[in-house]
Amino acid sequence: MSPSSEPVYDWRICLKCAMEANQGADHNRYFPLASSGEDGTPRVRWVVFRGFVGDSDDVCIVTDARSEKVTEFQRQPRCEFSWYFTETREQFRVRAHVITVDSRCPDQTQRLSAWQALSQAARESFYGPHPGFPLVTGTDVPLTTEQIPAAFVVLILRPDHVDHLLLPLPQRRWLSTLESGNWCSTPVNP
Ligand SMILES: Cc1cc2nc3c(=O)[nH]c(=O)nc-3n(C[C@H](O)[C@H](O)[C@H](O)COP(=O)(O)O)c2cc1C
Repeated sequence: MSPSSEPVYDWRICLKCAMEANQGADHNRYFPLASSGEDGTPRVRWVVFRGFVGDSDDVCIVTDARSEKVTEFQRQPRCEFSWYFTETREQFRVRAHVITVDSRCPDQTQRLSAWQALSQAARESFYGPHPGFPLVTGTDVPLTTEQIPAAFVVLILRPDHVDHLLLPLPQRRWLSTLESGNWCSTPVNP
């Protein structure tokens, strides 16, 4: 307990509580992920939240190596993503460093476990034609294969700034920053 006898604020505990409290709805499963486009302007798209990496703060998503976001994160490995939980009416905005785990990475652990967790339908999408290129039809998708396609990429989002806003009155907001490996949180005006 802090000197004021309020529990010490920890965004990770708050996020996990929010996920539990909002389990009935779908919005734990997706979030909008923003990057910087080649021209420096923002890009945003929805992705599936694939969970945390072990007990760490690292957030896992999967994507196609040929997608624009992968090129964008190679150039500028920074992102922002956000959750809004409608039951508890709270928003988390997370800024993070992006680590790309592709077929060339020496440590394939995360890529292998993410691939194993995918449905067959989701796996098949990685054998399709180049995303974003003019429409191609009639390409054969291999239904079974032992090999993980090179197009399958895991992105690890490693948070370093978190902005947590609680909408129910009285509104409350905390800013948390990772400083030399420790999270420092400050309550701020909403
Ligand atoms: C609900 C939803 C979930 C999605 N999940 C993913 C995902 O997990 N990974 C992914 O690469 N694209 C996902 N997409 C598609 C992306 O939003 C986007 O259209 C695609 O990745 C191409 O984006 P890019 O050209 O900016 O790389 C999802 C779309 C929606 C609507």
